[in-house]
Amino acid sequence: MTFDEVLQNYSGKTTLITGGAGCIGSNLTRTLIKASAKKILVLDDLSSAKKWNTPNASNVTFINGSILDDAVLTKVFAGKPDYVFHLAALFANQNSIDHPDTDLMVNGLGTLKMLQYSHLNHIKKFVFASSGCSVYGSQAPLPLREDFVSLHLDTPYQITKLLGELYCNFFHNYYKLPVVLGRFFNVYGPGEIPGKYRNVIPNFTYWALHNQPLSITGTGEETRDFTFVEDIVEGVLRAGAIPEAVGEAFNLASGKETRIIDLANTINQLTGNDAGIKFIEKRDWDKIVRRRASIEKARKTLGYEPKTEMKEGLKRVLSWFSENKERIEASAKF
Ligand SMILES: NC(=O)c1ccc[n+]([C@@H]2O[C@H](COP(=O)([O-])OP(=O)(O)OC[C@H]3O[C@@H](n4cnc5c(N)ncnc54)[C@H](O)[C@@H]3O)[C@@H](O)[C@H]2O)c1
Repeated sequence: MTFDEVLQNYSGKTTLITGGAGCIGSNLTRTLIKASAKKILVLDDLSSAKKWNTPNASNVTFINGSILDDAVLTKVFAGKPDYVFHLAALFANQNSIDHPDTDLMVNGLGTLKMLQYSHLNHIKKFVFASSGCSVYGSQAPLPLREDFVSLHLDTPYQITKLLGELYCNFFHNYYKLPVVLGRFFNVYGPGEIPGKYRNVIPNFTYWALHNQPLSITGTGEETRDFTFVEDIVEGVLRAGAIPEAVGEAFNLASGKETRIIDLANTINQLTGNDAGIKFIEKRDWDKIVRRRASIEKARKTLGYEPKTEMKEGLKRVLSWFSENKERIEASAKF
């Protein structure tokens, strides 16, 4: 299926995006606007995002509320969504170490509630935002393949992402709910506001633009599989549209390793930051040295093919920072 055909699948349909004000959700909303979706219901409690990050359009309805609130969910599902993209979560590892109860409530009970409401309302497809950086643990052989998950996880977030997958599997096996699991890897791009609990790319960019040294937790030799957000959005929409995806898990990644030291040097170079790099102690839960996903299954079943090279993606991040300078300054909290 070409991506245009995938988009046609959503034309005239109603979609619900939980966590739609976040980085991935806002980009997904933008693409669904282009796909002429009939209605895009964006549900977000703005606990870690800002309303200004949500695209405005006549077919977008923003609901400020929590996936844990039955009154909110009753109202949202009265809008009769065909597709549910469940992205809302307490994000991510350090946040879950600091707030394990909220992590379990939002990522565990919140996901269970979304599945219950989706089942009772006979939705067409439920796509769950899982995390390949979570469910494989720190010991799995590279490249990481879908048929292995670890029971030895290092943070509450990793545990509750796996829990979310297990609930999805239960609803699929028992109630025949059409679910698809998307395992994302280190997503970056326009729409992620830097801050204490945010990812390395928005934070490096923010520090570099403030002429500060980039703090690397570790030696810098560690690698991650960074994926540009628009590639993830395409993967997610393919997962929602392709019938063979139902009941399956897919890595959505770039399939490439990037060393953190190389990332830091590139960002310093692109921004002209001469403050360099500083090394600080590795966080004790962070046991993952290298990350690279196999994307063969997503290629074969979904026709997924990541397109954005790292340098190009970083330039897009920089443009977004410059277009939203004042808003980012006011919103970034460290
Ligand atoms: N960004 C990544 O690298 C990455 C990697 C793997 C998996 N994921 C998963 O993808 C999803 C989206 O990630 P993101 O990077 O856009 O994160 P994000 O934090 O930007 O988005 C999550 C959104 O959920 C909202 N939210 C939190 N609790 C809520 C609640 N109780 N009710 C309603 N909304 C709530 C937040 O306000 C935020 O806007 C998450 O589930 C995340 O775990 C992300």
